[in-house]
Amino acid sequence: MKNIGSYPKVRLRRNRKAEWSRRLVSENSLSTNDLIWPIFIKEGKNIKEPIKLMPGVYRYSLDKIESLVEKAISKKIPMLALFPQTPNFKKNARGTEALNKNNLVCKALKLIKKNYKDIGIMCDVALDPYTDHGHDGILKKNYVDNDETVKMLVRQSLLQAEMGCDVIAPSDMMDGRIGEIRKSLDKNGYKLVQILSYAVKYASNFYGPFRDAVGSKNSLKGDKKNYQMDFRNSKESLREVALDISEGADFVMIKPGLPYLDIIKLIKDNFKIPVFAYQVSGEYSLIMNGINKKILNDDAIYESLISLKRAGASAIVTYFADRIAHKL
Ligand code: PBG
Repeated sequence: MKNIGSYPKVRLRRNRKAEWSRRLVSENSLSTNDLIWPIFIKEGKNIKEPIKLMPGVYRYSLDKIESLVEKAISKKIPMLALFPQTPNFKKNARGTEALNKNNLVCKALKLIKKNYKDIGIMCDVALDPYTDHGHDGILKKNYVDNDETVKMLVRQSLLQAEMGCDVIAPSDMMDGRIGEIRKSLDKNGYKLVQILSYAVKYASNFYGPFRDAVGSKNSLKGDKKNYQMDFRNSKESLREVALDISEGADFVMIKPGLPYLDIIKLIKDNFKIPVFAYQVSGEYSLIMNGINKKILNDDAIYESLISLKRAGASAIVTYFADRIAHKL
């Protein structure tokens, strides 16, 4: 940087002297267009069940879904993400409930897409809500078998597309799944169904409250370190993203969010593809507990989301979406 001048001629505080001036020079902004709202769904009727580790977030039965969709549309949130809590008796080692065309996610998709065309619905592709061991794929000798799992994920994706899913979001971190999913969607007439690849998903300690919310926390045996990325690595993320772009991803997700701002920026600076960030459950719960205990005020939410935008995220999956939307 040259020619920045010097004090006292230059006073950087001049442009900060009033809110109108700060607005004129602000480099980043957050709008409702940037938000993706995750919704937890469960079986039953008339249920709005608090999630203990995520204060202010609930699991809803399907009869509540339409009012949530209407709320999202009225707040101009462009997309919802659906996450099911599958009853334990429907789980098994291969996660076959993922392929049941009457599973929770399929029922929700049909319900929503029958009446609402102007909001995007994104669905996770991974087996962990459906396996009794809590892993994202199929185990062989206690190791998640890549190629067997990809076959299941391809079928899961196709089923979701058939049910009306707009954005298929593989969050499993198997190698090669984006290409296989793209091929099968195209072959079956779903050329315009988008793929949001969780290309850079770390084996993070910040997913705990989510696993509690979908009911995989207690069943999970071991950890996910032999498929999700090692949080000591950054350059490896470039290879993950490059591969997923070549396989046909339409956008890529970096996950978690705040502890990985460097990765968001790295990917944004190196590729032209839209980059999304996931402010995950552990981040949500920390901030929310801070607010509830009056350690933080509500503006901490806005600040955390702006940080993700500043780093380069085009859109953010956040459990704060409905709480923050009306302020934007
Ligand atoms: C499942 C999945 C996880 C999250 C989203 N999809 C958990 C995991 O990989 O164990 C985490 C989301 C969050 O913590 O908010 N594949």
